[in-house]
Amino acid sequence: MLFSPVVSLLLASLVPTVYSQQLSMSAAQAAIVGTWSSGSKHVMTGPNFANPLNLTFNYPATTGISYSFTTDNNYEIARYRFTGNGSEPTCITGVIGWSHGTYQFNANGSMSLMPLRDGFQQIQDPCAPVSNFIEDYMITLEYYQMWQIFQDPTTGLKLHLFAYDGSPLSPMFQVSTTPNMLPTQQLRNVSNPDASPTSSANTNQRRSESGAVGKSWFGAMGTSSLLVMALASLML
Ligand SMILES: *[C@@H]1O[C@H](CO)[C@@H](O)[C@H](O)[C@H]1NC(C)=O
Ligand SMILES: *[C@@H]1O[C@H](CO)[C@@H](O)[C@H](O)[C@H]1NC(C)=O
Ligand SMILES: *[C@@H]1O[C@H](CO)[C@@H](O)[C@H](O)[C@H]1NC(C)=O
Repeated sequence: MLFSPVVSLLLASLVPTVYSQQLSMSAAQAAIVGTWSSGSKHVMTGPNFANPLNLTFNYPATTGISYSFTTDNNYEIARYRFTGNGSEPTCITGVIGWSHGTYQFNANGSMSLMPLRDGFQQIQDPCAPVSNFIEDYMITLEYYQMWQIFQDPTTGLKLHLFAYDGSPLSPMFQVSTTPNMLPTQQLRNVSNPDASPTSSANTNQRRSESGAVGKSWFGAMGTSSLLVMALASLML
């Protein structure tokens, strides 16, 4: 009762060596291949999470993150998260996102993920002028300052990723040594110049036949809110 679950989770992620044994870098580079998922493991990469062709998601039962890595440097990420707003406690923003691309291990222990352009995310923000919309995932590089894999005596292999600013992501547990992923090539065309939004009030429907998100969204939202969203999605 001393610590909230969040604090306990954070502490657990900060002192894993007390309970677990860290894999060497070379062992970790081999062991990262497969599928990983945080918490209750309801969020999982692969065909049950996102449908890039029609820009839909199958909402998992609980929030979380999932990463998959292949031996030939492809990766996929599935994320589902609610974020609070300190100044507006009732404004809980939900972000669900999917992306994939290629990754590389850097010599200094960091990892770089280069997303293809077909990633997408759905934002639900009850307090925003537009409360529910789908947008392209426009990040071109996801940089992880550090990553580690631990062999935990009770939970097995555990992956710790640290964001560009060093903050830890929720630890992920190995779900499968075979990566469970959608096909690794670009799965939809995102640069269709004919893509234009309809005037439908249902923002969910604002996408072209090709599946490309209407460009005018980005104009209407403005750069600052885009940045906030991009950051919000990165923090997942
Ligand atoms: C989107 O595609 C998936 C997979 O083909 C399908 O199961 C789902 O019904 C589709 N959803 C919509 C809204 O078209
Ligand atoms: C919090 O809500 C206020 C009022 O709606 C908004 O101006 C602000 O941008 C929000 N902050 C975040 C981090 O979403
Ligand atoms: C680590 O290496 C990556 C890739 O070369 C580089 O972008 C990053 O700046 C390096 N980080 C530090 C702290 O040197």
